[in-house]
Amino acid sequence: MSVNVSEFGSLKDGRIIHKYTLQNKNKVSASVITYGATLTEICAPDKNDISKDILVGFDNIEGFVERTDYQGVIVGPYANRIGNASFSIDGVQYKLVANEKDVTCLHSNGEFNTAVWDAEVIDDSCVAFTYVSPDGLNGFPGKMNVSVRYSLNDENELKLEYFAVSDKKTVINLTNHAYFNLGGYDSGTILDHMITINADKYTPVDSFSIPTGEIADVVNTPFDLRNSNRIGDMIDADCVQLDYTGGYDHNFCINGYNGSVLKAAEVTEPESGRTLEVFTDLPGVQFYAGNFLKGDLGKANVRMEKRSGFCLETQFYPDTPNHANFPQCTFDAGEEFRSITIFKFSVK
Ligand code: BGC
Repeated sequence: MSVNVSEFGSLKDGRIIHKYTLQNKNKVSASVITYGATLTEICAPDKNDISKDILVGFDNIEGFVERTDYQGVIVGPYANRIGNASFSIDGVQYKLVANEKDVTCLHSNGEFNTAVWDAEVIDDSCVAFTYVSPDGLNGFPGKMNVSVRYSLNDENELKLEYFAVSDKKTVINLTNHAYFNLGGYDSGTILDHMITINADKYTPVDSFSIPTGEIADVVNTPFDLRNSNRIGDMIDADCVQLDYTGGYDHNFCINGYNGSVLKAAEVTEPESGRTLEVFTDLPGVQFYAGNFLKGDLGKANVRMEKRSGFCLETQFYPDTPNHANFPQCTFDAGEEFRSITIFKFSVK
């Protein structure tokens, strides 16, 4: 195992952004920059032991600043959407910035992913990123201390450990928004990838992509992804849920949620054999098929076309603060949020 530190670039105000690269003995590596505690690169070998970068994103800081669709970033304090950009705690209403269609709050208006985080090498397999979120920013209550630890082992597991604590009672929902293309970032769409999501239920949405509150069965819907389906097979099926979102962009309720780390999903790209397994202790995972990628210039000037990457965002369900029937993510002042997500790489 090793950690390498280098300069990634600098912001217009002169702040230098550093890159930390973890490397194991099996040609797997992961790079994270201090801007947004963002995963910029994951290299993993295929069935012929050829290692390739499988993250869709940028190879320069300008891309992350000017053209981001949240590629690789840490999202917080509340990942995903909050309906009507508002929620209440103990009878007090909090109004958030409505950064989507002037109605909803998406990804906390980009707070965590546009911050410059501090980084500390913990050992030759682990780097910790920390950030302090000011009280009231974008409408969220509380000053929050946040830390995300990235570590890599020789079992090809990239582990993300999240810690957060606020000085006021508030909602906390942190995720990583990596876009994967297991054929390589420059290999076209992800429609031929085979996906399995361990979820009997999902949360249908309205036309603003806000959950209706229903926890619906996946049986006989395009959301039944329990037995290895080609992503492209049903993504454009005649279904109002897919019409609202332009393809898969939904929260799946992970079977057996009990706070321990469970397998949420598995994806294989048939040609290379590269396989990603996703594990989490959270109740949900957003499967987003990159439907809104619009051909912006990415790494090596390759355009990030529609559906050229997919995300599996481990999370509390979207809009949880407005749905008492969802697993709750409100934390008392001083109460610690802790969570683990593991991305594991192999070949099939
Ligand atoms: C959302 C998508 C959104 C994307 C990038 C995902 O988490 O579900 O609707 O387009 O993030 O902003």
